[in-house]
Amino acid sequence: MNASDSLTALIQEDQFVGWTYQLDYERAVVLTCDQWKARARGVPHNCFLVATALEEQHQGEVILLRVTGAAPLPLDDELLQARIQRLKARQIPSGENVSIGDEFTFGALTCRILGTFYIQDESLRLGSDMESYFHAPHLKVYRPSGAALEAIVNYVSPERAAAAREEARRLGLPGDMPRFPIGTVRYTSTDRLHRGEAGQQAVFYLNAVDFLARRTAVFGMTRTGKSNTVKQLVSVVMRTSRGSGLKIGQIIYDLNGEYANANQQDQGSIAEVYPAETLRYRMLPTPGFQLILNNFFTQIVEGHTTLKGLIEGNKVHRAADLEAFLSMDFSEPSREDYSTDAEFARQRGIYQRKVAAYQAVLARAGYELPPGFRIAFEANVGIRNKVNPSVDPANGLTATQTCEWFQLARQIQEELVTATGADWIDPDTNVLMNLLLQRNDQGAYIPGFRLLQPYKDYHAPSRTTDVCDEIYQHLVAGKIVILDLSVGDPVQRERLAKRIAQHILRHSMAAFNRGLHPAHIVIYVEEAHNIIGRNDLLTDIWPTIAKEGAKARLGIVYATQEVSSIHPNILSNTENVLVSHLNNENEINELARYYDFRDFSQSLIRAQNVGFARVKTLSNPFVIPVQIDRFDPLQERLRAEAIGRPGR
Ligand SMILES: Nc1ncnc2c1ncn2[C@@H]1O[C@H](COP(=O)(O)OP(=O)(O)OP(=O)(O)O)[C@@H](O)[C@H]1O
Ligand SMILES: [Mg+2]
Repeated sequence: MNASDSLTALIQEDQFVGWTYQLDYERAVVLTCDQWKARARGVPHNCFLVATALEEQHQGEVILLRVTGAAPLPLDDELLQARIQRLKARQIPSGENVSIGDEFTFGALTCRILGTFYIQDESLRLGSDMESYFHAPHLKVYRPSGAALEAIVNYVSPERAAAAREEARRLGLPGDMPRFPIGTVRYTSTDRLHRGEAGQQAVFYLNAVDFLARRTAVFGMTRTGKSNTVKQLVSVVMRTSRGSGLKIGQIIYDLNGEYANANQQDQGSIAEVYPAETLRYRMLPTPGFQLILNNFFTQIVEGHTTLKGLIEGNKVHRAADLEAFLSMDFSEPSREDYSTDAEFARQRGIYQRKVAAYQAVLARAGYELPPGFRIAFEANVGIRNKVNPSVDPANGLTATQTCEWFQLARQIQEELVTATGADWIDPDTNVLMNLLLQRNDQGAYIPGFRLLQPYKDYHAPSRTTDVCDEIYQHLVAGKIVILDLSVGDPVQRERLAKRIAQHILRHSMAAFNRGLHPAHIVIYVEEAHNIIGRNDLLTDIWPTIAKEGAKARLGIVYATQEVSSIHPNILSNTENVLVSHLNNENEINELARYYDFRDFSQSLIRAQNVGFARVKTLSNPFVIPVQIDRFDPLQERLRAEAIGRPGR
């Protein structure tokens, strides 16, 4: 189709609904009559109209309007009346001579001007306003449907299309960037005519360029289809990425466990539709799930940080030894920090003994050792002879042997200190020995290692790699990772959520800084108000991802009931917004500050239909009302299998 055809294709003769009789930069008033409206299958509130003089004045423009209300025909303005009389008598574009007959069937529609379609440099363009208008206008007005409507709502400017092609080229994709079908245009709650049997539905697509590496918000009252929207997004992204060969990692922060498990209400989950591409993580051991947790014996810093978070979350009185344990730093000494090899070796020795004492504490508290795991540290022959000549800790000790070793060392601690200074038992190791042996520096009983017992379930003895890294690798491979956060402690949950997000950002940023193209990753956050704080600092992880993520090819989709619960900085950086029913003025007002959502204030409060969303995307300069498709696990699985089948 050449460019001017794409302009004329917006006009569908049989969808004629009237004439404009008044026009300015902001508004158009349209004369319409019942017969015309009926023929075009009605004119719903908020529907799109197109107005044009095309062939008559060769203006080469189609003006896009949105119906915002109805108005009576003017009775007091003679000029307008004369104009209207003339229009009523005009032949309508189809050439039929409709006998209007009845004066009472005429009325007026008020419309907002959304923009102008025109041709420039052989391509169809959409300006977001109107450049000029005539005072004696009688533009023909049509209600676009089917293909014309689809062209309008899916319009992408030549610049964005070029950028998308460029991105596709960079990613080595044949052809264009993909787009994701997510629903069909819907104007009103009552949709008997405009979407009924004979009504042609227009599919609305989310463009990968708008969506990837961008921020997307999903708002709406409870049970109005937010999670469905997210599921639909995850699955169309998965399906499209399989079809196009573009790897897109997706990670879902699933606070209710509804993506990982089939829940009773919804019958079917993402995990069931894409079993081979989905990895599920949980904080507690569950069949079919990987543990989000780390191995405390091998991931020393991670494990200690987890314990710290858990213990600090419990507002109990903490004795001095426990306090000292919480503030310990378990990061490994590195050579650059020391001026001589000897000093580095000395510090490494201290670190080894401290870690060994910590591991002994964990073991005594009942933390299961990884299979075949031995606790090892250097002890020179002099020390060995003093403490326990029968074993060499450098060869690795069992947990019991390690406990014994430290118990024996404690008995001759003074002697050891005299011989080696604070070196052999440094202050941190001393505290850990106190916890291990349940005695403080004064020799009084303390609960010691027992205080760590309640948190045993956070340790994953079989894990050999950092869970964050493992998840990141899955994302890079284009998998769907579901973090089922429905179980486990809320404080821990928030911390973990952050840590994983930090890891993703750090690694993708590092790739970007090395001049590489980081993998596309989309992060979905359900019930976002629980995870992303409205009062987070700008330097906190979520605002940082919102601000900087685009460079690192990180996209974020967050779903929540309240617009007002979202961090202002994230909200104002959000390019795509999907909103279903909201039930109060405050939330509507919050939203109405953005784009042209104000046009939908009434309808958002009034229409409670599930999945009926008003959608603003980056490419579209205006809001589009869309019925989001229902995520249908069975259908989706069949489709997924069809795409996955060889030769398709
Ligand atoms: N677009 C849709 N078409 C048809 N049914 C839908 C659509 N969206 C959601 N539903 C159904 O409506 C119910 C509620 O949807 P969903 O769980 O997505 O709402 P929610 O906004 O996430 O609710 P909550 O606030 O409780 O998390 C589900 O049973 C779902 O299957
Ligand atoms: Mg939900």
